[in-house]
Amino acid sequence: MFKLTTKALVCAASLTLSGLALAADPIVIKFSHVVAEHTPKGQGALLFKKLAEERLPGKVEVEVYSNSSLFGDGKEMEALLLGDVQLIAPSLAKFEHYSKPIQIFDLPFLFDDINAVDRFQKGPVGQELLKSMESKGITGLGYWHNGLKQLSANKELRKPRDARGLKFRVQASAVLDEQFKALRANPRKMSFSEVYQGLQTGVVNGAENPYSNIYSQKMHEVQSHITESNHGLLDYMVITNTEFWNGLPSDVRAELEVIMEEVTLEVNKHAQSINERDKKAILASGKTEILYLTKEEREKWRQAMKPVWKKFEAQIGADRIKAAEAANQQ
Ligand code: LMR
Repeated sequence: MFKLTTKALVCAASLTLSGLALAADPIVIKFSHVVAEHTPKGQGALLFKKLAEERLPGKVEVEVYSNSSLFGDGKEMEALLLGDVQLIAPSLAKFEHYSKPIQIFDLPFLFDDINAVDRFQKGPVGQELLKSMESKGITGLGYWHNGLKQLSANKELRKPRDARGLKFRVQASAVLDEQFKALRANPRKMSFSEVYQGLQTGVVNGAENPYSNIYSQKMHEVQSHITESNHGLLDYMVITNTEFWNGLPSDVRAELEVIMEEVTLEVNKHAQSINERDKKAILASGKTEILYLTKEEREKWRQAMKPVWKKFEAQIGADRIKAAEAANQQ
């Protein structure tokens, strides 16, 4: 009798436990970002959701919030640290309060092309920077490309002096602030969601962004000219809250890391073609003119902006800058 009762109890207990396991709530990962869905970052976030939910059914749910619909620029980092969101991918210009060396990515004319950026990010310095904020509770999971930035304004910007006196919207970055000051222009920090209106109302006269952001935010409709300057980089670091990530069941974390690697490859493979597609759409719209610079003209912009490097060399580290320059030669 006693034996039977014990067995029955054990059975009942294990049934309850398995019931609990079945009913356990999936881990919800909120992925918040500020751009449109048909951009490199927007597509990456959706692909991460798809693969995570396919491969970890019932264990993980990913909620993607695009276009600053959950948190905008000013708030997303704070929200990540508070645990209100688990994944974000700010542009590399938005980390200066957490890691000064990450400012390297904003230095104008540092990288010759996106392949050089890729080599640098995959190299030792790029990898070191991914982990440089763990003491602050932020873990970098990967770099996603958007692409090289173009200058836009309501006038033709062919020579550096054409930018003089104009108000340019900048991301929250001291390097970008100095970049426009070097042109004797007036930089104005503004969150991404406000740029279109800022340009439309004349609060700012110009901006800098890759084609995918210009097109998806309709900035070309309120800018008469775009100069294909490729003068700087707009890429992302996908980051998570260190405590959240380390607290995940190890099998779930391992699978999510594999998925993140796959998504990173996909985003980085397609970012350039998304920008080319959006450049064509901008041209087809007929709303803005794209100016191309000769080698000599582009060199003048480089000379005007390059003094900014010296100002940030101590914060970034001269060796890191050398490593980035070396990535152009490989
Ligand atoms: C910007 O603020 O211009 C960009 O960082 C937006 C983005 O996330 O691409």
